[in-house]
Amino acid sequence: MSDTIARPADTVRTLPRVPPPMAMLAELTHRCPLACPYCSNPIALTQAKEELSTEEWTGVFAQAADLGVLHLHLSGGEPAARRDLVELTQAASSLGLYTNLITSGVGLTEARMNSLADAGLDHIQLSIQGVSPESADRIGGYKGGYERKMAVAGWAADAAIPLTLNAVCHRQNMGEIDEMIELAIRLKARRIEVATVQFHGWAERNKQVLMPTREQVERATRAVAEAREKYQGILVIDYVPADYYSKYPKACMGGWGRVGLNVTPSGRVLPCHAAETIPSLSFENVREKSLSSIWYEGDAFNAYRGEDWMPELCRSCERKKVDFGGCRCQAMALAGDASATDPVCIRSPLRDRLTLEVEQLSAPSVVAMNYRGRA
Ligand code: SF4
Ligand code: FES
Repeated sequence: MSDTIARPADTVRTLPRVPPPMAMLAELTHRCPLACPYCSNPIALTQAKEELSTEEWTGVFAQAADLGVLHLHLSGGEPAARRDLVELTQAASSLGLYTNLITSGVGLTEARMNSLADAGLDHIQLSIQGVSPESADRIGGYKGGYERKMAVAGWAADAAIPLTLNAVCHRQNMGEIDEMIELAIRLKARRIEVATVQFHGWAERNKQVLMPTREQVERATRAVAEAREKYQGILVIDYVPADYYSKYPKACMGGWGRVGLNVTPSGRVLPCHAAETIPSLSFENVREKSLSSIWYEGDAFNAYRGEDWMPELCRSCERKKVDFGGCRCQAMALAGDASATDPVCIRSPLRDRLTLEVEQLSAPSVVAMNYRGRA
């Protein structure tokens, strides 16, 4: 299979100034039957006619494998909306890539799951929005979604594909964390990822309904600690706490241009899913350049590598190799400057203002959810 996959003429090996990427997130499509208000996809969604073709995606996978990528995340939107999902999975698998399907489950059938298993799919991450049909379907904006997810988990188990549940937590569902973990046990998942919402894309529009309260965050942190002890050796619980209530920012993406890259449905290559919110950056496309030259030489990737770009506050800080100055997109959104210290950092001059804003946003409100794609 790999011999037949096209590679562009400009795939030239350049001496790496940084290690190769370990992971690639392929956003196969922005199409999605769900309408989650926390979706991190951009407000201007890519149309189906602009998406990379099957041949273009398999060519990108081949370049990724050549570049040194080990993990390929097939994501979206909803990747099952692509008719060629099985074909793409098979192409990636034949290139030796570890394939992980990140899905809402809607669009999968038992027959398709078996075909994915035959194609070599290594792992499934299934999103859950809540622990009952009422809460899950309300948050996901899709009636019947919860029932389909339960069926998909069963088909994955029958096909012996390891399962992780993905739960994005926010004010609307944070009280359900214990039950989400119980659900993961019932569905025979090996892992659950509980990640507090990040305010990019549609989530940014819904801050007022999604911002968790301090009490919710503290309770969630305790619930995760207790569950980790209770299910040690049975279930791995990954937890991304709310950095708005922490002292320091997270090392977003493991550092800009250090560990992984994203390819959008139309082939733009990004250092992170929200990078297009930084207006000073322009992004190259796999239709025009090789993945290798974009990773090693692309201006957007090099913009925040190393320490030269950092403000003095970060450059002189002992945590700069721990969090790399925090999230560039969050700095853009909150400070209006992508090269500022992430304002969630306790040392940032903007932190007090942010704390006040978070208190206001997390107060009870009657604002309606702004569903993805319906605004
Ligand atoms: Fe991280 Fe910069 Fe804050 Fe130090 S000052 S903790 S490097 S964000
Ligand atoms: Fe872009 Fe954090 S989301 S660097």
